[in-house]
Amino acid sequence: MNAVICATGTYVPERRMSNHEFEEYLDTSDEWIVSHTGIRYRHIAADDQAASDLATEAAKKALHRAEIDPAELDMILLATATPDFVGFPGTACIVQDNLGAKNAAAMDLVAGCTGFIYGLETAKGFISSGFAKKVLLIGAEVLSRHVNWQDRNTCVLFGDGAGAAILCADEGPAERGVLYSYIRSLGSGARLLERTAGGSRFPYKQGETDPNDLLLKMDGRKVYNFAVSSLVETIDHLLDYHDLSVDDIKYIIPHQANLRIIEAAAKRKKIPLDRFYVNIQEFANTSAATIPIALAELQGKHMLQEGDLLIAIGFGAGLTYGGNLIRW
Ligand code: ACO
Repeated sequence: MNAVICATGTYVPERRMSNHEFEEYLDTSDEWIVSHTGIRYRHIAADDQAASDLATEAAKKALHRAEIDPAELDMILLATATPDFVGFPGTACIVQDNLGAKNAAAMDLVAGCTGFIYGLETAKGFISSGFAKKVLLIGAEVLSRHVNWQDRNTCVLFGDGAGAAILCADEGPAERGVLYSYIRSLGSGARLLERTAGGSRFPYKQGETDPNDLLLKMDGRKVYNFAVSSLVETIDHLLDYHDLSVDDIKYIIPHQANLRIIEAAAKRKKIPLDRFYVNIQEFANTSAATIPIALAELQGKHMLQEGDLLIAIGFGAGLTYGGNLIRW
């Protein structure tokens, strides 16, 4: 049984923030941010928007495009590191209610920026087992609420957004959809990217918790090295599995964390940069949402033909990393 991506949708908040806005209050510059990351803009959620709101909008677009009634969904998977509420309730349940997806199970998936990659394989599993015929998979983040806006090392890197894909069971003779996934974790690096307080390890204590410990912290240099090597390792595994060469792949869709990470991996693998789909200049790093936003853009721009082979790759908090080989 194939698990085919039958529609995509995306939503980013209206507010588009340029690098120049940081120049007004931080010791940084548009020139530094562009040259070190490739980022020019990011979109920022309105005060009344949470992850479920972005997710719901992206999902509605995907459902509309596929002409699927929400009641047909069997499962909603929501990859996010910035849920509406910590732990309970799950954000996927809020989306299920917003959509009126009355027959769908719903759960969140926490795998950092690799969440959508893990989600594609999870969705395929539900479809292959016969449990589900239609799975809505969403990556949605409101990172602007968790970055330290005074820390130039991190705040310039992130943005808000959501992307959705509907995976449908397909019994056609040709092998299509999510063909193979290579997913891994490296928990020894768990604390390289974290929000220290507010969980069960360091619970919030009034008057004691340092407010900065509630915000995202990252060892940028170490994460950078991990990101480049995980991109290279994942490309190698996905190509080897089907004995493919990079010439067989239409696009590699990497997690959009830093253009220099993508350039370094391209150089190491001797792959032309134009084989990587890049939109970081517009959205910055939206964590679990970068891959589905890129997929939806590729589909929206009619850049994909049926039968094209794609590779999607993620890496991020956990640490987690990996990718999917997809036949469109
Ligand atoms: N403006 C100006 N200077 C800055 C800024 C900024 N916005 N940010 C950092 N700097 C400074 C640093 O303070 C440092 O100054 P110092 O030498 O006086 O201490 C200098 O620039 C160089 O710092 P480096 O860390 O060496 O800078 P680098 O070129 O490595 O870029 C960056 C930093 C962009 C964070 C890079 O390390 C990186 O991209 N890391 C990976 C980030 C990533 O992928 N994160 C997400 C993955 S997981 C997920 O998506 C959730």
